[in-house]
Amino acid sequence: MILDDNDNIKHKAKNIKPIELNSNETELDRSYDRNIRPKTFDEYIGQESIKETLKISIEASKKRNSSLDHILLYGPPGLGKTTLATIIAKESNVDIKITSAPALERPRDIIGILMSLKEGEILFIDEIHRLNKVAEEILYPAMEDFTLDLTTGKSQTVKTMRVPLKKFTLIGATTKAGALSGPLRDRFGVIHRLEFYTEDELSKVIKRSAKILNFKINDDAADEISRRSRSTPRIANRLIKRAGDWALVKGDGIITKQNAKDALDSLNIDSKGLDVTDREFLKIIINNYSGGPVGIETIAVALGEDIRTIEDVIEPYLLQSGFIQRTQRGRVATKKAYEHLNIKYTQNGQISFFD
Ligand SMILES: Nc1ncnc2c1ncn2[C@@H]1O[C@H](COP(=O)(O)OP(=O)(O)OP(=O)(O)O)[C@@H](O)[C@H]1O
Ligand SMILES: [Mg+2]
Repeated sequence: MILDDNDNIKHKAKNIKPIELNSNETELDRSYDRNIRPKTFDEYIGQESIKETLKISIEASKKRNSSLDHILLYGPPGLGKTTLATIIAKESNVDIKITSAPALERPRDIIGILMSLKEGEILFIDEIHRLNKVAEEILYPAMEDFTLDLTTGKSQTVKTMRVPLKKFTLIGATTKAGALSGPLRDRFGVIHRLEFYTEDELSKVIKRSAKILNFKINDDAADEISRRSRSTPRIANRLIKRAGDWALVKGDGIITKQNAKDALDSLNIDSKGLDVTDREFLKIIINNYSGGPVGIETIAVALGEDIRTIEDVIEPYLLQSGFIQRTQRGRVATKKAYEHLNIKYTQNGQISFFD
């Protein structure tokens, strides 16, 4: 995909499938998202040290007149990996083609894209940990020497051809760096882990989005939404829209702390940003397994969620905010989780409920 002046994403190559959109997003949500997605480093809030390093790399590659090193971005969903990749392209004045590993099923998918890349262009592969072995092996020489090693013919007549490629930059994104094979990880010159956002940073994200969406919001309302956004800009942006709707229908259009609270309560998002599934997750560990340790497979069955969703979406925030710990024998609910759910904490695993 190429970004045009309005940052609308056009599908240029036939074999590039669009990235999946959240199924409960409306068309209006999607057009909001296009408008509020930061387009420059200045608009991109937080992740300061990553931005600093990237700015220097971009500057240096411009001075050297060479392509950027391959970059791996990893971290939980919604922290801004795709956004950062599009900013890197824009700040480097190059085009970007966006695809994701599941769309690169057949060898010809990845070969087609690699051969179509122009000098300096960026190839962004989302969910890169899901790349199959064959595609990975095609990528190795492409990343290292900008060549493709193609084989033609059958058994005795098999011939290997080296096809030169233009010097491109691969940006890979993943929620699970650990699932990447060693040889692939080693071929990235730069590896950045995106961090969860502080409340202050998220408040800034919220106020910036509110301005673009023409919502009026009080400072303490922005702070309230920020505290309940799981330290994640994508969630902050989703919640501000719901708070904006609430303020319009129930109030005078201004998002106050009270109507932010009411809107988020109505969505069952609690004071720490946990939703029904998060709380259910904690309650399973506490009530069914005396606080743990309990294996993820067991929790997955009880919760009715698949393990990947738990590992990629639910757990990272619960871990980082200290509600659970991961031990060799499984997940354990912390004292903080008991307190948050109003369940009395006892070390010997027995529980009793507050009145
Ligand atoms: N640093 C930031 N400043 C302001 N807004 C941001 C920032 N990072 C992300 N956002 C907003 O959050 C939304 C989600 O970001 P993005 O799609 O880049 O996340 P992601 O890490 O690629 O998620 P996934 O792992 O699900 O692909 C973006 O649409 C953007 O509006
Ligand atoms: Mg993304």
